Amino acid sequence: MLLGLWLSAIPIQAETFTLRTPGTQLVLEATQGQDLQLLYYGDKSATASDIANANAHAFAALPAFGSVDMIYLPALQVQHADGDLNLELVVDKVEQLSTVNYQLSTITLADKLQPFTLRVYYKAWHSVDIIETWTEIEHREKKPVTLKRFDSGALHFYGDNPHLLHLHGDWAAEAMPTVEPLTRGMKTIRNTDGARNAHLDAPEVMIALDGAPKENYGSVIGAALCWSGNYEIRLNAANNDGYTLYAGIDPQSSEYVLAPRTVFVTPHLALTYSNEGMGGVSRAFHRWARTCGMMHNGNAVRDILLNSWEGIYFDITEERIIAMMNDIAAFGGELFVMDDGWFGNKYPRNNDSSSLGDWVVDTRKLPNGLKALTDAARERHIKFGIWIEPEAVNTASELFEKHPDWALQARGRELKLGRGGTQLVLDMSNPQVQDFVFNLVDTLLTNNPEISYIKWDANASIQNYGSTYLPKDKQNNLYVDYHLGLVKTLERIRAKYPNVVIQNCASGGGRANYGLMPYFDEFWVSDNNDALQRVFIQWGTSYFFPSNAMAQHIGGSPYLMTGRVAPVKFRCDVAMSGRLGMELQPAHMTDEERAQCTTAITDYKELRPIIQLGNLYRLVSPYETVVGPEKQQVASLMYVTDDQAQAVLFAYGLTSFMKQQSRRIRLAGLDPDRTYTLTEKNIRHGEQPCALHGKSFTGAYLMSVGLDIPLSTEYSHDYPSRIFLLTDK
Ligand code: DGJ
Repeated sequence: MLLGLWLSAIPIQAETFTLRTPGTQLVLEATQGQDLQLLYYGDKSATASDIANANAHAFAALPAFGSVDMIYLPALQVQHADGDLNLELVVDKVEQLSTVNYQLSTITLADKLQPFTLRVYYKAWHSVDIIETWTEIEHREKKPVTLKRFDSGALHFYGDNPHLLHLHGDWAAEAMPTVEPLTRGMKTIRNTDGARNAHLDAPEVMIALDGAPKENYGSVIGAALCWSGNYEIRLNAANNDGYTLYAGIDPQSSEYVLAPRTVFVTPHLALTYSNEGMGGVSRAFHRWARTCGMMHNGNAVRDILLNSWEGIYFDITEERIIAMMNDIAAFGGELFVMDDGWFGNKYPRNNDSSSLGDWVVDTRKLPNGLKALTDAARERHIKFGIWIEPEAVNTASELFEKHPDWALQARGRELKLGRGGTQLVLDMSNPQVQDFVFNLVDTLLTNNPEISYIKWDANASIQNYGSTYLPKDKQNNLYVDYHLGLVKTLERIRAKYPNVVIQNCASGGGRANYGLMPYFDEFWVSDNNDALQRVFIQWGTSYFFPSNAMAQHIGGSPYLMTGRVAPVKFRCDVAMSGRLGMELQPAHMTDEERAQCTTAITDYKELRPIIQLGNLYRLVSPYETVVGPEKQQVASLMYVTDDQAQAVLFAYGLTSFMKQQSRRIRLAGLDPDRTYTLTEKNIRHGEQPCALHGKSFTGAYLMSVGLDIPLSTEYSHDYPSRIFLLTDK
């Protein structure tokens, strides 16, 4: 986290005050003894008098059940110790803190009757158009208070035919953008997996205020709830001409029991607003993730790796692992990751039905232990990484034999078993389990100091609702305390191991969210590594997440899950648009595949800083479906450096027919006054670069007229693709 100096911490008697980011402002009215009102959120160009004159539209910043704003859907509802269900929160004080990086406003609200306090925070970043909001709830009542609803924030907005975009999906089909008009009534997006929250419906949304969202223009609000557990995002048509977005932890089965003098902190809700359409919102989230501490080591470029999973699955032997290390080193890669299958003593991990929890090397497979592997990696000048699934246990494990009570379970009920017919989730609300998880990582890294990368997997939902640790009257706290326990453990790990790269994996992209991102360097985008479907999955994921967080691996062909045969160049080009890796058995590759992957890795090293740290412009969406031979279905995106001196352009042909009309692609994000020269990269093995190679164009021409990129029938195979480096020399 970037910490600046506190420049001031002055309680102010503010009535109306404004939080500013470079392009946006949020205006609040906080008058002592009155409700906290949100007057405006949007473009920075609105003047104080515009906002004051529109005062009729003021809206409770957090409508509470029992207050004068009771007619609105509440963002907050509690049951006090004496049974009272009402909250009448009025402003007690306002504090402003300013650092070199952000402005933080804290508004303390107090209930008119009960000793109940709510602190509302707004954190406006100076360098990026993101404002984070969250609350702290505290009381001094005689007994616990039940938090029945405790949203992180609410945002009232107006629009002319506003549209919602959110990511819907499934395992192996994550992040499908769904766009729909916001009609009257309420639209709810939620996830109830318990342990992960991004497979089905992800906790991030965009709202285009004027009609269907456009990529590069139009007013769009973005919102991301920074939480990895169950959540609920509601969009409600208010009883005037506006709408309200509410976002917070899902209170269903989670009405939280809060003891007196304990502080409950809600997850941060990150808000952004852009006049540059969905692309502007995406770029704000990406920059915030990379530079504001919302992602661990966000501004670092990532290594090129080979992961063993889809190459050898559980069939780990020292010989096979070392052979794979030889391969990735020969390709020019920088890291080898040994996935599942390396552990278990009494219960060897030969398939997914046993051993989770027993984090000891299986010496039948690896007789010389991990030391032999880290030594081998060092000798090959590559790094070594390893897979773990710390929050899980199999009933067939020594851990379960010793600590059956550490698994989540409903007392007296039969266990519901997950993956492999034996998998359970450990109770992360239990401090002993938190210690166990910390110690397993600590022991692994202390005993093997050359492990530089961990893949942290999570392959189970919470199916058994119950904790043997939480008392009877706090069973409701489990969904929340699970994640608080997980975060606490990750904080301990990060305090001791800040430099180990940790991948967040949850059966693919099940935990691609900003709740866990501060502790992880990247996430596994999907278990589906089929290059064609990856174009779609990566497209959707890019709406909210930066490319250096998105692990994208070159898979085999035919691809094991879909049977699709795709050229190795296409598979490379698709993976190269994010954090590049490989996930296949190199021993099964043809010479052509080897040669292409070597070229891809060499070229990627040159392009990597632009791809991983540049500004993303999505140009042609794969979701613009064109079926049939007349016109080609295409996807295209580009990354541009901050100084606009360099860019990398990706173009993928998704359908191929003879004499198909090609698609002219207009570029974006360039300087119109500069001249850019195109260099084709990762040229298909055995072919010459295309006619655009070496040609120069002005930024203005590229953005207004565009390029006819040769992806058509003359390039006679399925899934043609091109990558170009643009330089202003
Ligand atoms: C699920 C992950 O998403 C895969 O990449 C792989 O690590 C397997 N688990 C291993 O069991």
